[in-house]
Amino acid sequence: MNLLDVKDLHVEFTTQDGNVTAVNDLNFSLQPGETLGIVGESGSGKSQTVFALMGLLAKNGIISGSAKFEGNEILNLPEKELNKVRAEQIAMIFQDPMTSLNPYMKVSAQMMEVLILHKKMSKKEAFEESIKMLEAVKIPEARSRINMYPHEFSGGMRQRVMIAMALLCRPKLLIADEPTTALDVTIQAQIMDLLNELKHQFNTAIIMITHDLGVVAGSCDKVLVMYAGRTMEYGSVEDIFYRPSHPYTEGLLKAIPRLDSEADTLPTIPGNPPNLLNLPEGCPYQDRCHRAIENICNGTPTLTPFAQDRSRACFSDWESW
Ligand SMILES: Nc1ncnc2c1ncn2[C@@H]1O[C@H](COP(=O)(O)OP(=O)(O)OP(=O)(O)O)[C@@H](O)[C@H]1O
Ligand SMILES: [Mg+2]
Repeated sequence: MNLLDVKDLHVEFTTQDGNVTAVNDLNFSLQPGETLGIVGESGSGKSQTVFALMGLLAKNGIISGSAKFEGNEILNLPEKELNKVRAEQIAMIFQDPMTSLNPYMKVSAQMMEVLILHKKMSKKEAFEESIKMLEAVKIPEARSRINMYPHEFSGGMRQRVMIAMALLCRPKLLIADEPTTALDVTIQAQIMDLLNELKHQFNTAIIMITHDLGVVAGSCDKVLVMYAGRTMEYGSVEDIFYRPSHPYTEGLLKAIPRLDSEADTLPTIPGNPPNLLNLPEGCPYQDRCHRAIENICNGTPTLTPFAQDRSRACFSDWESW
């Protein structure tokens, strides 16, 4: 059985100016221990996709479709059941660790609370287990540092504390929403290495959200490329990197920051993502597409499978690129 099966996930927000479709019929699945990267520019719907799964959408959000975790529906669950899923099965880490850490509580108290509540541990057991988890995320001198407040840790170390918190109940799925964006490049690489290591150690499946395709290279099995709420392309990490079949993926590949680059500025895809309130007819990417073909790119391309575990939504003939 798949760990997670997402079918026709649709997220719409009602606003004063009309309805915004942030996520448009997304489909994907995840096996235990597998890592899926969701990649796209700002506003493409990455966060709202996982917020919908975690019951974290804003009040004006409406969800339809289905998301089954180990066969059980998790969309639109009542708060009580959702809390159980969130604590014990699916954990989430954010770009800013302070979203999940309480600034006024020592790290020890925050971690122990989780284990006492959800794993019914004694105080002593919870304390020892928390130290073990801080050691697993490679916090030096964990036994003394556990008694510090979150602000006493550096940014990178705080990120590690948050990861330790997220893994305390040994979730089967970890959702990481741009977990390294706020960090400098060296620390970013360390955190990615750490996540890769932990994934094997705990056999955790991961959904890794990022706008930087470079981040998914070393860590993901499959990649979903998202634009204006839709899947543009889906495939294995090798296919996406070496045989991209969508012009948008090509654009994102060119925009990967390179440490060895001498250029001062990073190439970006010209233009901006469309306004979701006022989506153009047809392909949402057509205005920025370097491969758009007159008379061929008419209408909206549907996501079409064309090989094992591989699909694309584009009219262009990619095999002739
Ligand atoms: N409460 C809301 N009401 C109306 N629109 C919303 C609401 N929340 C999000 N949106 C819209 O949904 C779209 C998708 O947002 P989302 O947060 O998923 O983007 P993202 O891909 O995570 O971008 P980023 O990389 O900047 O985090 C955006 O256009 C955003 O403005
Ligand atoms: Mg986001």
